[in-house]
Amino acid sequence: ANNSEGNLRSPICCIMGHVDTGKTKLLDCIRHTNVQEGEAGGITQQIGATYFPAENIRERTRELKADAKLNVPGLLVIDTPGHESFTNLRSRGSGLCDIAILVVDIMHGLEPQTIESLNLLRMRNTEFIVALNKVDRLYGWKTLRNAPIVKALKQQSKDVQNEFNMRVTSVITQFKEQGLNTELYYKNKDMGETFNIVPTSAISGEGVPDLLLLLVQWSQKTMIEKLTFKNELECTVLEVKVVEGHGTTIDVVLVNGVLHEGDQIVVCGMQGPIVTTIRALLTPHPMKELRVKGTYLHHKQIKAAQGIKISAQGLEHAIAGTGLYVVGPDDDLEEIKRSAMED
Ligand code: GTP
Ligand code: MG
Ligand code: NA
Repeated sequence: ANNSEGNLRSPICCIMGHVDTGKTKLLDCIRHTNVQEGEAGGITQQIGATYFPAENIRERTRELKADAKLNVPGLLVIDTPGHESFTNLRSRGSGLCDIAILVVDIMHGLEPQTIESLNLLRMRNTEFIVALNKVDRLYGWKTLRNAPIVKALKQQSKDVQNEFNMRVTSVITQFKEQGLNTELYYKNKDMGETFNIVPTSAISGEGVPDLLLLLVQWSQKTMIEKLTFKNELECTVLEVKVVEGHGTTIDVVLVNGVLHEGDQIVVCGMQGPIVTTIRALLTPHPMKELRVKGTYLHHKQIKAAQGIKISAQGLEHAIAGTGLYVVGPDDDLEEIKRSAMED
């Protein structure tokens, strides 16, 4: 690996789309967790974050391509709600990410929040991959657990293949009506101009290896500059919440830079800037969801990119969606307080 490859941070990937298309379930499938079943009404109402180390991605993509080059340390995936009332959270998630997965239900095609998400991504010129999810619902689908999608499709009857082709064609047409060229990724000869579609099942895992590998490879290929680790801190508050034993905490996404226990930080508050000191830097275990109560790992310092829970005094009135600043030895505190309140 050359120098730049040696200092890449994990790409941040936001998962977006219409309600109930299977965003959380897809992450559950990769994590081997059951977060979705624990959600009230089966609806996501918060932004989440999960870190997938490269070795887990390697494991999951071995059958598809055993010698794939994974130059990034891992992948940080941000889960967002699809319900129409959470446009602000979709906007927050899409504003943070390097790349996105736009999930479409193969049985429903494009829906209102698919189009809303699409427009958020286009507004910021964000790269994305379409996951055409729930292929297992095609009538007569034969399960081939966690198989690469081309292999899974070859096992299907002519009828299933025909229905699959018909539905894919219809989705491609619907994207075309939105002014967007899309194609099944394994047929796409014009990557870059034509967005990739990866058929998946979050229940039986077909296509999930393809989605993971394409995410990592496409990020590595098209955004080396953006993914090169930078020391300058870039950090956003996702959620503010009370956690038993820790008081009010903030969940943040560290996009660049390093945070240390004991750092003096400034965040935007409802009654003015909050200046405080990091008491604890916590993360869930790898492959666990930050927004779900569980055991946390304590860190002395954490390097981007990562989803982190910060415990500190005085965070009760912190405002989600704003930036977090660290006060360095040579920094002017008043200036940082002003910057924090401009967010
Ligand atoms: P919101 O976050 O509320 O927008 O929903 P979501 O997109 O995260 O969808 P979720 O993971 O909550 O899944 C919605 C429903 O679809 C659940 O009942 C899932 O079990 C089901 N589901 C998700 N993915 C699949 C799939 O690939 N196949 C099948 N058959 N069902 C799925
Ligand atoms: Mg969800
Ligand atoms: Na849901």
